[in-house]
Amino acid sequence: MEIPFAESYKIKMVEPIYRSAREQRQQWIKDARYNLFNLRSEQVYIDLLTDSGTGAMSHNQWAALMTGDESYAGSSSYYNLKNAIQELLGFEHFLPTHQGRAAENVLFSVWVKKGNVVPGNSHFDTTKGHIEFRDASAIDCTIDEAFDTGSQHPFKGNLDLLKLEEVYKNHHREEIPMVIVTLTCNTSGGQPVSMHNLREVHKMSNKYGIPVVFDSARFAENAWFIKEREPGYADKSIRQIVTEMFSYADVMTMSSKKDGIVNIGGFIAMRDKELFKQSSVFNIMYEGFNTYGGMAGRDMNALAVGLHEVTTEHYLETRIRQVEFLGNKLLTWGIPIQNPIGGHAVFIDAKHFLEYVPKEEFVAQTLAIELYLEAGVRGVEVGTLLADRDPHTKENRYPKLEMLRLAIPRRTYTNNHMEVVAVALKNIYDRRDSIRHGYKIVSEAPIMRHFSVELGPVIA
Ligand code: F0G
Repeated sequence: MEIPFAESYKIKMVEPIYRSAREQRQQWIKDARYNLFNLRSEQVYIDLLTDSGTGAMSHNQWAALMTGDESYAGSSSYYNLKNAIQELLGFEHFLPTHQGRAAENVLFSVWVKKGNVVPGNSHFDTTKGHIEFRDASAIDCTIDEAFDTGSQHPFKGNLDLLKLEEVYKNHHREEIPMVIVTLTCNTSGGQPVSMHNLREVHKMSNKYGIPVVFDSARFAENAWFIKEREPGYADKSIRQIVTEMFSYADVMTMSSKKDGIVNIGGFIAMRDKELFKQSSVFNIMYEGFNTYGGMAGRDMNALAVGLHEVTTEHYLETRIRQVEFLGNKLLTWGIPIQNPIGGHAVFIDAKHFLEYVPKEEFVAQTLAIELYLEAGVRGVEVGTLLADRDPHTKENRYPKLEMLRLAIPRRTYTNNHMEVVAVALKNIYDRRDSIRHGYKIVSEAPIMRHFSVELGPVIA
């Protein structure tokens, strides 16, 4: 018999989690105003809200944490991280920040001006938020296949080069501070961008004089998919692929809470010394002095180790296989999900799952609440609530995809937990036709409303 696959680690420390009764969950979700962000973690059995900052560090990361250098200036931890970024990602200059959105804030403070346009592949919500906050616009140039969940396109994170060139031709160079390529593309389902696409985006942007920025939160997962799916890369190592990927970027922003496998942290890295100097001014104001920028020395040490671990084949194989394990179970039962299965999460196509719930009643949020009630599993809506209102018309924006995202924390849950999630969804799928109504908004914030929105059932 063939020896089966198993995780590339064993477990040294555990944290208990508890199951609850449906009646308890009914009360808790009502008290939370039907917003899963308002639940206390003890009220959740399996937490797939996010893969951000929720991973388990390795023994080597914990060991590095203990030797963190907390000097205000010039700490050895800063230099450990600087060396890791230089060696693995190839950038000479970097600034630590407290997380990914802080990196965006610092970079955009230098580059984004009122009236600018910033093309990209389905910008993440904080990225878009930071752009719109400056009265600029994010233009989505993702390929159309990304919005067809049934399409098996292997690189649904790709930018459509025709759409991108359209933006470049229709605006003056001064109006376009950068193009942002998100690796993997979270919003379209953890979908990768091919090396070919990265190379072409870089070539075209160079021609027009536009800098290329990679939002690199899940860069290693992107590299894994290039190795698996793109001709010519099967025999290259993940590190070689990562090196080539970043050779097509001028700047990178990073949320280290994902593919840094740490609980907090981020950074900006760049080649241009002048940009480094300009960004330093904002980094010092918003984050901290250049050699810690919002991070403790111990966290920079753990991140330096995390970057080495995340770029290994054995880590990535375990990671991607677990996400696939959950996705394949759902596919077997005919449950509609974004295809192919993404890198960090399984995205349920809520519009096709709950066909009778009207779009005005927040379909993916309705499914998220059902899943919580069914088994205490917390996912997150990536749909109309997240899309916010149009800043000008104040109307709800109905995105092409209405998704329930089940994001899997790194090295945290076992496949038994994934079984629980899958069966819970199957139970809901079996009674899907009885779910006809969703939720209405009771109160909401003017921007990033999904974090704090209060909802009530349409039919009480
Ligand atoms: N870019 C991408 C692609 C992200 O997914 C995130 C965060 C950020 C930037 C911002 O980073 O949280 O460190 O400030 N995504 C989390 C998520 C929150 O759940 O997907 P941050």
